[in-house]
Amino acid sequence: MRVKSERFRPEYHQPLIVGASTGFLVSPNVSINSTLRGNAQTAFERIENLFDASFGGADNPLRHLGALGLFFLWILVASGLYLYTVLDTSIEGVYRSIGHLSQEQWYLGGILRSLHRYASDGFVLVMMLHLVREWAYGRYHGFRLYSWVTGVPLIWLAYVSGIGGYWIVWDRLAQFSAIATTELLDWLPFFNEPTARNFLAPDSINDRLFTVLVFIHIGIPLMLILGLWAHVNRISRVDYLPSRRLMLGTLASFLALALVKPALSEAPADLAVVPADLPLDWFILFIHPLTDITSPAAVWSLIFGATVLLFALPFLPHPKAQPIAVVDAANCNGCSRCHADCPYEAVTMAPHPDKAGHKIAIVDPKLCAGCGICAGSCPSSTPFRSQETLVTGIDMPQQPVDVLRRQLEAELARLGTQAATSAKLVVFGCDKGADVRDLAGADTAAISLLCTGMLPPSFIEYALRSGADGIVISGCREGGCDFRLGMQWTRERLAHQREPHLRSVVPTDRLQLVFASRNEGDTVATAVTEFRTQLKDRAVASHRPPAYSRRNR
Ligand code: HEM
Ligand code: SF4
Ligand code: SF4
Repeated sequence: MRVKSERFRPEYHQPLIVGASTGFLVSPNVSINSTLRGNAQTAFERIENLFDASFGGADNPLRHLGALGLFFLWILVASGLYLYTVLDTSIEGVYRSIGHLSQEQWYLGGILRSLHRYASDGFVLVMMLHLVREWAYGRYHGFRLYSWVTGVPLIWLAYVSGIGGYWIVWDRLAQFSAIATTELLDWLPFFNEPTARNFLAPDSINDRLFTVLVFIHIGIPLMLILGLWAHVNRISRVDYLPSRRLMLGTLASFLALALVKPALSEAPADLAVVPADLPLDWFILFIHPLTDITSPAAVWSLIFGATVLLFALPFLPHPKAQPIAVVDAANCNGCSRCHADCPYEAVTMAPHPDKAGHKIAIVDPKLCAGCGICAGSCPSSTPFRSQETLVTGIDMPQQPVDVLRRQLEAELARLGTQAATSAKLVVFGCDKGADVRDLAGADTAAISLLCTGMLPPSFIEYALRSGADGIVISGCREGGCDFRLGMQWTRERLAHQREPHLRSVVPTDRLQLVFASRNEGDTVATAVTEFRTQLKDRAVASHRPPAYSRRNR
């Protein structure tokens, strides 16, 4: 094994931040966006950490908003199908058939009706939170452009469907919403005849209206489902459903609401009367009071302005994207592990140009996030290879595995020169999570990676065999990985459940995993201190020197 004695200074892996200090001209709008985003991200992180304490990462609703939205959508579809079967779309029948559900059939139809209503409120709530969270974490440009841009029309579809749903009941609230919406629509220069005229007098509406409404109320959610399919199309292993506990918890909350405050109809619609004193669904129908206190012009400006802004956001200047993964044909054996592990479907397999019957990984530059998870999955990324320069199958130009090996070797050599007063630790962390670099010291080497999932498990064995007493791996909390799957793959590789796995000869009591978010450097520092004490206690108890390396060389 080759160990360089001087402290290694990586010449790669400079953080690619472009801002005023690097000469990039940042417009005032962009810096307002960055400041707002920074504050929103910190707020989200704090609340998420608080929720983690109560729910744990897997059941934390804020970390699984997209999946929660999909779950609510399935509740809406299932309950909606039942409502559809009992709905009478005639002008007299519509109010009666829905009211019947709540009164005579409260234990089934009534509960399903309430579930439908509360799940729709839940859906728009988690959708908007999901949008704000993705923006706050800066996940709306570069390789995420597609997910972002396909997400924007979903907001329109969700609201149009939600507002239309209220009309089907044809009670006073429906009447109010129908008139308010058509008045809002009439402000646009699209209609020859004012659409609000349809609700002027009792004889201006007929049975056809409700057939059309139901058709729209079913058709738009179908478009929404199609839009969602497109939305997650470029993401692998999508979080399609939240954890079982989260599903049961939210479903139980909706059921409790359905029993305590069932969804009921108001008095039947009467176009001769002006509806008043109505309880409003603020999640979906907030647009009506907003129009009342402002004007149709202000509301349309807000709606179109927000839509244009959302579409435009990804095209504002942003920090330069990370360089993408690069495949080395000579070192790729076509095993497909990088293809299986890539969180963004950026790797496909194609016939190898030089090795007949073999495959080679191909990286799509438009999809690659530059996370390095593929480098961590490649069997050629092992530091035990005797090459002077370690060339792997798929690598990151900004932090190649060869640089990682040289950095590790230099750090181990430095630790080797220190007196053996305390356990010597190597801490691997993630650029997107808690900053581990501050932990570097006389008895600690700290190496930050593009993503923790970039660490090939063989590096752990290599470090332990080369003088480290213990390894700490710090990664984002569950559901918090910036590249979605980095921590999941790391855990599975260390637990021998995923290739490349940590060899079973590696003593796992020399290994400590810590989960910490960006602002939780203290958590990692505490874990390092405690782990060092544990290693020392164990060494004292077993009367043996702590270094794994000394026993297994
Ligand atoms: C209509 C409701 C929506 C649902 C049910 C939904 C659902 C999802 C799901 C399941 C994912 C994949 C999460 C994962 O597996 O890691 C996702 C990703 C994403 N969504 Fe949505 N979404 C919705 C609306 C939106 C909207 C309105 C936006 C923003 C305009 C948006 C932006 C994104 C982005 C940027 C990602 C990619 C995240 C990443 O790459 O890490 N979504 N969404
Ligand atoms: S993991 Fe490495 S060897 Fe396997 S296909 Fe990808 S680049 Fe090739
Ligand atoms: S760097 Fe990340 S996104 Fe790009 S190919 Fe590798 S695993 Fe996929």
